[in-house]
Amino acid sequence: MKLFIDTANLDDIRDIAGWGILDGCTTNPSLAAREGRDFAELIAEICDVVDGPVSAEVVADNAEGMLAEARLLAQIHDNVVVKVPIGVEGLKATRVLSDEGIRTNVTLIFSVTQAFMAAKAGATYVSPFVGRVDDIGGSGIGLVADIVEVFDTYAFDTEVLAASIRHIQHMVEALRVGSHVATIPPGIFRKMLVHPQTASGMAGFMADWAKVEGGGNVVEVVQRFLDARKG
Ligand code: E4P
Repeated sequence: MKLFIDTANLDDIRDIAGWGILDGCTTNPSLAAREGRDFAELIAEICDVVDGPVSAEVVADNAEGMLAEARLLAQIHDNVVVKVPIGVEGLKATRVLSDEGIRTNVTLIFSVTQAFMAAKAGATYVSPFVGRVDDIGGSGIGLVADIVEVFDTYAFDTEVLAASIRHIQHMVEALRVGSHVATIPPGIFRKMLVHPQTASGMAGFMADWAKVEGGGNVVEVVQRFLDARKG
């Protein structure tokens, strides 16, 4: 599974990009608004940090306007993937952008039929909103699983990008149902590495290390041994 970061915050993006496991980034108008920055400059800077697809969303309400915005967004950086909302206008725009070789992430997906139509239009990614489906009493992960199965059945190249990830269990389930991508808020990224048993295990090892004969600084201890062995 590819891991994207779901934020427009450059401090978080730089931090998690430094872990060596980041494949891309998704933004949306709400995430961009939190940064209080010029949008084009922000996307350009994110693209300089993230070595992979960076979603930037169009905001026009008709296909012609979406296309005008998308063609400009795509010129900001090769990493830009244009995020297009599902609907008739979004579908038309996705078809044209796909034919022009501009990658798209069709967003606000809440049903299998929406995902299927987006894939038919040539979407690079579809983004089912897992947490927001759960919010209204549905199964967000069930939706991801259904879309993965349909895309597999009909051999679509479109990748399923699990979005609106709210907690660790969403990630575990997205992994289990074979989502191609998940976009994860920075806080969840950090929680994915944490376990109380790891923390207490580490504390125990460190306490015991102080009792090891010749213990102390590992580099100094081992270097001293290697130097002595050389003679
Ligand atoms: C990402 O592409 C989506 O815009 C984002 O995951 C939505 O998440 P939210 O439902 O937590 O706002």
